[in-house]
Amino acid sequence: MNAISAPAVGEQLRSLLANSHAPHSGVHVAAAVEDPAGALHFGVNVENSAYPEGVCAEASAISALVTGGQNRIARVWLASSLPGFIWPCGGCRQKILEFAQDGCEIVSLSADGAQESHTIEELLPLGFRLRGRA
Ligand code: THU
Repeated sequence: MNAISAPAVGEQLRSLLANSHAPHSGVHVAAAVEDPAGALHFGVNVENSAYPEGVCAEASAISALVTGGQNRIARVWLASSLPGFIWPCGGCRQKILEFAQDGCEIVSLSADGAQESHTIEELLPLGFRLRGRA
């Protein structure tokens, strides 16, 4: 299931940064959520002049996953225009948890090719679940 290579997905995410709509913050983010079959579902952040209406890249990617008929996240990949590693905001950690498989990792890819990863349980300890996994 580990057929996806970090350099390959990093290249895809870096090219998607150009599609991010971030005129307000100037921070461009691209995300891919990997389903259990190893397919990637992509998203970018889409900001809005009414600031709270903006959508994070992770939320966009999760929408693409669900639209594609999937409801499990095996791994999340992230890249941004900022130096270093980017990690999901609190709300997106909760959105990821909703669909996360056990041990789901969030992998952050920096522009210089480095990577760091943490499980969703590390990023959102004691996270809220209304029910067990569906
Ligand atoms: N943003 C994301 O899309 N994902 C993250 O993991 C953190 C932040 C976006 C939200 C906003 O459009 C911009 O980055 C700056 O906060």
